[in-house]
Amino acid sequence: MTTPLSLGILISGGGTNLQAIIDAIERKDLSAHIRIVVSNRSDAYGLARAQRHGLSTALLAHTDFSSREEFDQHLVTLLHEHGVEMVILAGFMRLLSARFIQAFPHRILNIHPALLPAFPGLRAQRQALERGVRISGATVHLVDEKMDHGPIIMQAAVPVYPDDTEDSLSARILAQEHRIYPAAIKLFAEGRVVVRGNSVRIRDERHWPQTAFQSPAAV
Ligand code: GAR
Repeated sequence: MTTPLSLGILISGGGTNLQAIIDAIERKDLSAHIRIVVSNRSDAYGLARAQRHGLSTALLAHTDFSSREEFDQHLVTLLHEHGVEMVILAGFMRLLSARFIQAFPHRILNIHPALLPAFPGLRAQRQALERGVRISGATVHLVDEKMDHGPIIMQAAVPVYPDDTEDSLSARILAQEHRIYPAAIKLFAEGRVVVRGNSVRIRDERHWPQTAFQSPAAV
């Protein structure tokens, strides 16, 4: 029996990835406790999702702080007070300072709606459409001090169709996000992630079972 991982989840919006993680824990697919859900925006629907499941929530509006460092320091204190071991960014649309990242070394995960290192930054789905790629997807990675850059834990690919809109591609990618984010957190809960520079090795990984690929011909 492993000790459940203590998670702090940071959100800014709808919180469908948060929901997927809550569901995985409730199904007992993932051995973890969500200690606190923090939003930097008062209108984030994810806060209501968390409250519906009896989770502690906090609103920490970045507009109430005079600098990124001050905001991040409050966030670190809040997460430490709740006994958070691992920080999960689930649609959290704020850059984190070096100080925050150093407070949780190799213990901050992010999900990005593209196959990194392609299309980092904002509106990754639109970037993919504008570049005309035929395949895109989602990436779960550890956060380091560069944006959308740290070691990749898991990816899933989806086809991009000629008539896709930003919304249709986002929905196809989001369905994969909901699958791989809880699965990637589970690797940490099982102690299977070994970080080596800017890549990771997953203990007992046989044939990339976590990686989904839907070929365009198959759908
Ligand atoms: C997700 O698509 C996530 O990948 C993206 O925001 C969305 C949040 O959805 N994150 C980023 O673009 C971060 N660079 P959710 O609030 O429904 O989980």
